[in-house]
Amino acid sequence: MADVTMDKIVSLCKRRGFIFQSSEIYGGLSGAYDYGPMGVQLKNNIRDFWWKEMTQIHDGIVGLDASILMHPRVWEASGHVSNFTDPMVDCKQCKSRFRADQIDLNGACPTCGTKESFTEPRNFNLMFSTHIGADVDSGSTIYLRPETAQGIYVDFKNIVQSSRVKIPFGIAQVGKSFRNEITTKNFIFRSCEFEQMEMQWFCKPGSDEEWFAYWKEQRMAFYEKLGIKSSSLRWHQHGPDELAFYAKDAYDIQFLFPMGWQELEGVHNRTDYDLTQHQTFSGKEMNYLDPESNERYIPYVVETSAGLTRNVLMALSDAYEEQTLEGGDVRTVMHFHPTIAPVHVAVLPLVKKDGIADFASKLEKELREDFVTFFDVSGAIGRRYRRMDEIGTPYCVTVDYESLEDNTVTLRFRDSMEQVRVPITELVATIKKATKEYKRVEA
Ligand code: GAP
Repeated sequence: MADVTMDKIVSLCKRRGFIFQSSEIYGGLSGAYDYGPMGVQLKNNIRDFWWKEMTQIHDGIVGLDASILMHPRVWEASGHVSNFTDPMVDCKQCKSRFRADQIDLNGACPTCGTKESFTEPRNFNLMFSTHIGADVDSGSTIYLRPETAQGIYVDFKNIVQSSRVKIPFGIAQVGKSFRNEITTKNFIFRSCEFEQMEMQWFCKPGSDEEWFAYWKEQRMAFYEKLGIKSSSLRWHQHGPDELAFYAKDAYDIQFLFPMGWQELEGVHNRTDYDLTQHQTFSGKEMNYLDPESNERYIPYVVETSAGLTRNVLMALSDAYEEQTLEGGDVRTVMHFHPTIAPVHVAVLPLVKKDGIADFASKLEKELREDFVTFFDVSGAIGRRYRRMDEIGTPYCVTVDYESLEDNTVTLRFRDSMEQVRVPITELVATIKKATKEYKRVEA
C-alpha cells in the first residue's frame, strides 16, 4: 500500500483508459465519471462476480432490475423525503460548501482560511429531483433513486407471488443510484452518480440477528475470494449517531483506500421498517403467509449494500504495485484477480514476419470464446509485457518460431513473471485452472 496514492491511481486510470472525468472537454462535471474500455470491463467483471456469488452460487436468492424512476410516494414511505439529509454549511467569504459533520465549525475555512466564516448548518436533501410529463409543477416531481433497495421492497409481493420463493430468501439487484453529494472528493469514492450491488434477505422476525451475523461473515468472505488483501479489510460497527434512520444494527466493511480506512459496503438490519412503511403508504398488504406454520407476518430484512463503483476503486487500490525488478527497472503492475481483470489473455507474436503474426492472430480469435483477449504486435516484447502488467492482464501468450513447428506457446504469468511452454491444445484448460487456483501473494 505504501506505493499507492490517489494521484497515481487517477493518472493510471486516465493513461490506460479505465476512468475519465465526465465532460472533460467542457472543464469536467464534478461527481460524475466515465468508465473507459478498461474501466467498464473491470466494473462489469466485478458486477458479474457479485451476481454469480449471490444468484448462482448462494441458495435462495433471485434477481431483479427495477426502474430508476419510481412513484414519488415510495420516497415518502421510505423516509428519504424527510430524513435523507446531510447538514451543510457555506463559507460566507469564498462560498465553498461543506458537510457540517466533516469540518471544525469553529475553525478556519479549509478553502480560503477565513475564520468564523460559516453559515448556520442547514439540512440538505441528497435526492436529485426532476419532473415527469410535460407539466412542470409540484405534482410532477419525481426523484432519481438514491438507493436500489426500495425497488426490491416495492416488488416484494410480485416476487413472492411469481417465483415460488420461501422465507428465508433474498432479492439481489445491481444498478445506478444518485445522490446530490455536497463533497465529492477522492475520485470515484463518493460521486453523485454511482452503482450499487444490493441484496435484501427476507427472514422471519426473531431470526434476523442470526442472519445478520451470517451475512456479515458471507460478505467478508466475498472480498477474500476476490483476492483482496486481508490486511486492507476490517469491520466498523455504527454507533447510535451513525445509524441510518431505518437500521436496528449496522456494520461497515471498511477498506484501506489510499486516503485511509473508509466504508466499502454496509450490512444493515433494517427490521420490518421498509415493508411496514410501504404497507402503510400504499394500503397494500406486505405480509407473508408462512406455508408451513400458517403464520402471517411482515418479514425482517438483512441488507448487504455494496458500492460497485466504490468496489472498482478498491480493486484498483488493492491491485496497484510499483515493483523494482532485478537490474533496477521498475514495473507498475495491477494484481487484479484474473476473473475481474479487464483483459484475461494477451496474445503477442514475437515478430510480425514469417507467418508468426497470422498464426498468433488465429489463436487469439480462438481464445475469444473463453476469455477477453488482446492482440498486440507492436514494440519490443518487454515493453508489450509492461503495457499488459499496467492494465493487470494475468496471462500473456507469446507465439514464436517454435510455435509454428510444434504448436506450443510461451505462457507468462503476470505476478511471478514465470514463463512456461504449453501445447496450444492445453492452453485454455491451463489458464482456467490457474484462474481457479489463483492466490494473491501479499508483498
Ligand atoms: N441501501 C442502503 C444504502 O444505500 P449506504 O451506506 O448509504 O446504504 C451503501 O450505501 C453503499 O453504497 C456504500 O457502502 C458505498 O459503497 C456506496 N455508496 C453510497 N454513496 C455513494 C456515493 N455517493 N458514491 C459512491 N458510492 C456510494
